[in-house]
Amino acid sequence: MDSAALEHAVTSLRERLPFTPDVMLVLGSGLGALADAVEDRIEIPFAEVPGFPSAGVVGHAGRYVAGTLEGRTVLVQSGRFHVYEGHPASLVIAPIRIGAGLGIDTILLTNAAGGVNRGFVPGDIMLIEDHLNMMGRNPLIGDAAEGEERFPDMSVAYDAELRALAESVALERAVPLRRGVYAAVTGPTYETPAEIRMLSLLGADAVGMSTVPEVIAARARGMRVLAFSLITNHAAGISLDPLSHDEVLETGKAAAETFGGLVRGVLRRLGESDAG
Ligand code: HPA
Repeated sequence: MDSAALEHAVTSLRERLPFTPDVMLVLGSGLGALADAVEDRIEIPFAEVPGFPSAGVVGHAGRYVAGTLEGRTVLVQSGRFHVYEGHPASLVIAPIRIGAGLGIDTILLTNAAGGVNRGFVPGDIMLIEDHLNMMGRNPLIGDAAEGEERFPDMSVAYDAELRALAESVALERAVPLRRGVYAAVTGPTYETPAEIRMLSLLGADAVGMSTVPEVIAARARGMRVLAFSLITNHAAGISLDPLSHDEVLETGKAAAETFGGLVRGVLRRLGESDAG
């Protein structure tokens, strides 16, 4: 999507939302249940966002859900445009650019990921500390969008204060929290065992097919970023089991309550720290 199309989408959303959301929340595979907990909700299917593909083209593309969660106004993005679906990078990051265009300065992203770190087990939650962009392309290649840095600094892409806050919420709720580096690949194949050995040597703790383009887009707009991976499976070659999307979705469902609780706890504390 070009700048004019983005601006049109922002204007259209602004007309439909009675507030500027405090926080944007991006929900990954199997983690969408949190969208249903949003109060006083306004739902905007992606097919109704100017410039996004119509529903027929992409099936169940996703939706924005705006409303209140834990006392914060939120814009939830439930569903993503993935690189593996053949979408241009500019569409993959468009939902984030639109959020930034609305004036949102804080974003919390979630994804499902394979555990590359041999100490991780399915069901673990990993706080993303840093990432490896292994998608072979940077989503900002091309004209810089309105308000974006041309050469964004990525030295602390995942906000240190927000990470500390997440650690503190996890401790309070007795949710064991892993931390590590997320490697993003395009998919749609899962990795080979040799690729997982390579990613491990490069310093990855988890691997998935999303999030990094969006984090790059958010940083280019100066948004504060916090991100979690739900480890849904051992990465290829670490266990003998073949990988399946069903396993990913099932682990997502099983962990939904813990994961949702953690995200809600972070939202609540964000409100307190902003107020104080
Ligand atoms: N690899 C890549 N993406 C994933 C995985 C994985 O093992 N699990 C969930 N998303």
